[in-house]
Amino acid sequence: MALRLVILGRQGSGKGTQCARLVEHYGCPHVSTGDMLRAARENGSELGRKAGEIMDRGDLVPDDVMHGIVTERLQQPDVAEHGVLLDGYPRTPDQADELERVLEALGTPLDVAINLDVPVAEVTERMLARGREDDTPEAIGRRLDHYEALTAPLIEWFGERNLLHVVDGLGAEDEVFARVRAVIDARLSGQ
Ligand code: AP5
Repeated sequence: MALRLVILGRQGSGKGTQCARLVEHYGCPHVSTGDMLRAARENGSELGRKAGEIMDRGDLVPDDVMHGIVTERLQQPDVAEHGVLLDGYPRTPDQADELERVLEALGTPLDVAINLDVPVAEVTERMLARGREDDTPEAIGRRLDHYEALTAPLIEWFGERNLLHVVDGLGAEDEVFARVRAVIDARLSGQ
């Protein structure tokens, strides 16, 4: 099984939570750009230091930096063999175009894009309850503003390519997972 999936959705909508389950179920590597940047920060690299400051403010790391990180990851043999769950990338139109270009060059197109739909009030509550370093009220506000301006347009971008499915992200994690799985399985069986 080499599922290639993009998971979209507001910050705090449960993308990472669902990806942990999807990895177990479908056996594809989880490529979370947020996790990659946080790991770089913990390693104390120059990239991690710069990215950490940007993340704490709730801003986006520049597109060219993200292209480099993700392209390198997508070229790894585990992705070629098992596919990929892309979480947090793409999140700007430029990143979407770059992803399309890279996957086309690799000859491995996407199977599906899922938009996990959760209202602003609910995601805000979830993030405040989680309390990650960038889950301050100010940074959450900026992240959600960036989402509306730069990431929400990707819903249409994936729709135009007949890849998009919207999944209700409200409810228990198990219920959401069952909805996500139903979409993926239908897509993989060509329905
Ligand atoms: P990133 O790590 O991607 O953070 P984010 O976008 O803020 O998304 P989250 O991880 O908060 O949300 P999630 O949807 O994964 O929710 P989760 O499952 O954790 O990015 C961090 C930063 O890195 C960015 O701000 C940016 O600076 C930089 N960055 C990353 N990618 C970039 C890119 N491509 N370009 C530029 N910059 C980039 O769930 C949230 C909470 O809700 C958890 O506590 C969870 O337990 C809970 N929860 C989950 N599901 C449910 C449910 N069904 N019911 C109730 N609670 C639930």
